Amino acid sequence: MIAIAEKEGQRERILLEKILDKPSQHALFLNTISLMEHIGSRKILLTQSNAHTTEFILRHASEEARHALFFKKKIELIIPNSHFGYSSNELLAGSSAIIYFQKLDASVRKSIRDMDLSNSKRTYLNYLYTTTVIEIRATKLYKIYNEVLSERNFGFHLNGLLAEEEGHLAEMESEIDSLDSNWSERLNKLLEQEGKLYQRLWRNWEEAIFF
Ligand SMILES: [Fe+2]
Ligand SMILES: [Fe+2]
Repeated sequence: MIAIAEKEGQRERILLEKILDKPSQHALFLNTISLMEHIGSRKILLTQSNAHTTEFILRHASEEARHALFFKKKIELIIPNSHFGYSSNELLAGSSAIIYFQKLDASVRKSIRDMDLSNSKRTYLNYLYTTTVIEIRATKLYKIYNEVLSERNFGFHLNGLLAEEEGHLAEMESEIDSLDSNWSERLNKLLEQEGKLYQRLWRNWEEAIFF
């Protein structure tokens, strides 16, 4: 398992180095991860605004919104006055990242479909699983991206952002534990499904960069 993870990490590093070689590609990558952070923040606000909205929910939504802005602003360092929106031609491999998010959301919905839960508990658990799986992925990817950024002196790093993602992960894992007695098995299955979706996203990114 460790060997596979190392190999995957190497593959990611090769692609990230290639992406960072060319400002136009780096800008598309930054905009794509900005969009993913934005989708995360929007999903939290859309599904978790109710009588149970806690400080944790508001903080999480606002930190993800801030991450979206952080990456968006970095585009200006790479290509000044680019004024990107989120059109598919301003993203790496078009809408691949949106499809990844939607499919992951559907997998989580399916995985908790048969649990006996109220509507609000179900959307809460859906949010917890979807974001946990994405946070695990984002943390791995951002760590490699951060290494490449520091080797090349881009003038920014992801240390603060990574610390916040790790904080979210710890908080969500403890919440999941209190709501789902079968969480460990369910999370492992979801991580396996996410792995396949990520491979597809990654292949689309590689095709956009190498071909
Ligand atoms: Fe984030
Ligand atoms: Fe996060």
